Amino acid sequence: MLFDTHAHYDDAAFAPDRELLLESLPQRGVALVLNPGCDLDSSRKAVSYAAAYPHVYAAVGIHPENCAGFVPADIDVLRELARQPKVAAIGEIGLDYYWAENPPRKLQQQVLRAQLALARELRLPVIFHDREAHGDMMDILRKYKPKGVVHCFSGSAELAQETVKLGMYIGLGGVVTFKNARHSAEVAKAIPLDRLLTETDAPYMAPVPFRGKRCDSSMIPMTAGRMAEEKGCTLEEMLRQTGENAKRLFSVE
Ligand code: NI
Repeated sequence: MLFDTHAHYDDAAFAPDRELLLESLPQRGVALVLNPGCDLDSSRKAVSYAAAYPHVYAAVGIHPENCAGFVPADIDVLRELARQPKVAAIGEIGLDYYWAENPPRKLQQQVLRAQLALARELRLPVIFHDREAHGDMMDILRKYKPKGVVHCFSGSAELAQETVKLGMYIGLGGVVTFKNARHSAEVAKAIPLDRLLTETDAPYMAPVPFRGKRCDSSMIPMTAGRMAEEKGCTLEEMLRQTGENAKRLFSVE
């Protein structure tokens, strides 16, 4: 059981071999993939991959970096997309205060709140992106109490524990294997095994020894192996447990 809960196969990096790669994943040990959208167009693509491949599920949403042109009617488009088969979550949504050229914080928060309301209406979990926005993320999680995951978790072990107390899961990716990202390994250690998810964020964040290369879901064992080391369990146990966690959260059979 290997469940990649966060991969962007609509990314241009996969243009040369997307179909072949997606089709080959089960033979390469990948049981399930969740492909989130980052805007309306990539959300449509995610839904189309879910329709085409039995092992692929979709999420639909507008990423905070892409919310500049947001209009309220976008929520109606997302609602229609979310009603398609195998759409398992609203995402990825959230806050990104890292880049100065990102849309203003107030606008990011407005678009996030509209999507959290949609997730609540449709009773879907959310895939949350938080970069340099920990305080505002926690405020919004406390207020909306969504079910979901904070993907590619970048905060401290203490923040991860608080996040889990609010009912969220913690997604960890290739960063766990980086020597200079010690706190990410500490998060894996601090969080109960039944709240951890594995992910790639493909095509980005390839784990060691593939760091810097194009990442795909078959690289999860490097990440999960490092998490297992922190937890003192076997790789198989880590893959089985995180796979079960993801199936539970996203209501995947
Ligand atoms: Ni992502």
